[in-house]
Amino acid sequence: MYMLVFRSELNSILSYNVIKDICILSARNNRRHGISGFMIECGGVFVQILEGSAEAVDATFQRVSADARHHHVDLLLSTAGSAGRQFGAWAMNLMFLDDPLLWRRVAGSLSSYDDFLRRSRDPVFSLGLLSLAYQFACSAINIDPAATGLKRGRIPRTRHMLRS
Ligand SMILES: Cc1cc2nc3c(=O)[nH]c(=O)nc-3n(C[C@H](O)[C@H](O)[C@H](O)COP(=O)(O)O)c2cc1C
Repeated sequence: MYMLVFRSELNSILSYNVIKDICILSARNNRRHGISGFMIECGGVFVQILEGSAEAVDATFQRVSADARHHHVDLLLSTAGSAGRQFGAWAMNLMFLDDPLLWRRVAGSLSSYDDFLRRSRDPVFSLGLLSLAYQFACSAINIDPAATGLKRGRIPRTRHMLRS
């Protein structure tokens, strides 16, 4: 399973609803291409993981990179990775981590919250945070994070896209 993590910054502020719509459209596209993944938004910065075949993931990343709604689209990590999916529950889902309360519940400490803009450039930090957010989202709505037997990721419902 090929996985790719990238970070980007919004060009201008978008409402929660617009960002949720981007996520749902992304999930529909990704599902067609056998891609699963997750993204975090915090202070206009996105960190996102895509996993699937190298061809499908690279093609999606090229398309997303050209999107004029964000810039500084930086590839943090790409690897052949593990045998199975680690973010298989959704074809894409999203967590808004702008809120310190939710941040504390997901990450356990506020020490990285203020520093997120800088630390999110670190692939290990970002992959770790994506993992925590994904696990948290799965347990919040009581679905299996291992997504065993799931051939294709779900399309998220509004209540799956967490924000406090
Ligand atoms: C932060 C961000 C993340 C995105 N992630 C994805 C994604 O995972 N998959 C996807 O197909 N499009 C994603 N998009 C949207 C694409 O850039 C592009 O608008 C979309 O793929 C075009 O789809 P369409 O040709 O069906 O209109 C993302 C956009 C932004 C701003």
